[in-house]
Amino acid sequence: MIQLRCPNCLESLAIGFASKDQRISCSYCSQNYTSQQNYIDFLKSKDIGKVEMQALETWGGGLHKQGLKPSLIHIELMDQRITGMTERIEGRILDLGCGSGHDTDYISKLSKTEEVFGLDIGENCREIAKRLKDNIKIKIIRANCLNLPFQNSQFDYIYSYGVIHHTNSPIQVLRESKRVLKPGGSLFMYVYTSHTKNLFKRFGIVIETIIMRIISRLNKPFKITLCIFLALISWLIFIIPAKVLSLFGWKKFAAKFPMNWGTSPLSILPDIKDRLLAPVNYRYSAKTIRDLVEEAGLVASSIIEDHTGVYVAAEHSSN
Ligand SMILES: C[S@@+](CC[C@H](N)C(=O)[O-])C[C@H]1O[C@@H](n2cnc3c(N)ncnc32)[C@H](O)[C@@H]1O
Repeated sequence: MIQLRCPNCLESLAIGFASKDQRISCSYCSQNYTSQQNYIDFLKSKDIGKVEMQALETWGGGLHKQGLKPSLIHIELMDQRITGMTERIEGRILDLGCGSGHDTDYISKLSKTEEVFGLDIGENCREIAKRLKDNIKIKIIRANCLNLPFQNSQFDYIYSYGVIHHTNSPIQVLRESKRVLKPGGSLFMYVYTSHTKNLFKRFGIVIETIIMRIISRLNKPFKITLCIFLALISWLIFIIPAKVLSLFGWKKFAAKFPMNWGTSPLSILPDIKDRLLAPVNYRYSAKTIRDLVEEAGLVASSIIEDHTGVYVAAEHSSN
């Protein structure tokens, strides 16, 4: 059985998931948490700083609210880069920053997985738990990934897609990941690339940073209006030219255009919001992510960087 830890006093929680909606209480510090069958909410207002507040608004209360299934399951995309990843995954897994929970569900269907924990800060966690309540392998935890509510050495594998670069301390998330991984366990993660070798894309990052600064000063309706406007502009200057180039047989060149997969302004709107409404977008090269992973005490065994991002497999060496 999973060993939980109270995020308030860091002592072990000698309690598990409650069978029906009820409060569970830490016997050391008396902090209360709510639990229901396959769900525990560990999040307290003191865990929510400025960055976390923006994350809550953008994902849990925004993009992931309806729990819509994305056209693309991220873990499949990652499996194409880290070959054999899904075949290796077994035992107890943590989907760190599980978003809408679709990857968590996918992982639970892999034949060798026994228990899968989806963890996110979003208010949509309760809805994910309800949606997946009949899947007995899955448990959903609402918590801040900078302070994981698990005791040491609990997981065989951690999977994390597009999360650590949106937190205010990626190194702390990696340290926490190492702490809760069993010796010999592995972390698979995806982070944004800094596009060190692509001047054109680096210019795009500068523009993105400027727009994010402007957006952070606007109120919500203006933020959304600006995103819709940018979706329209991106459709005109990236997607239509990419489609025309493909029609004339320039498929390879067309694939280099941002969001070339889009079909309409609406189809790219969630992606635009994901980028521009994020609280922070840290970016890494293969070298800088290796350094960070190693600073956290993990050993990077595979780092694949391409124009979509950086894919990392790192091990908690048992020595
Ligand atoms: C870009 S989304 C990725 C979601 C999911 N992994 C996927 O691939 O669709 C980033 C996720 O990280 C979560 N997140 C951001 N900061 C967090 C934090 N401090 N603790 C836990 N989750 C966090 C957000 O709520 C959001 O669901």
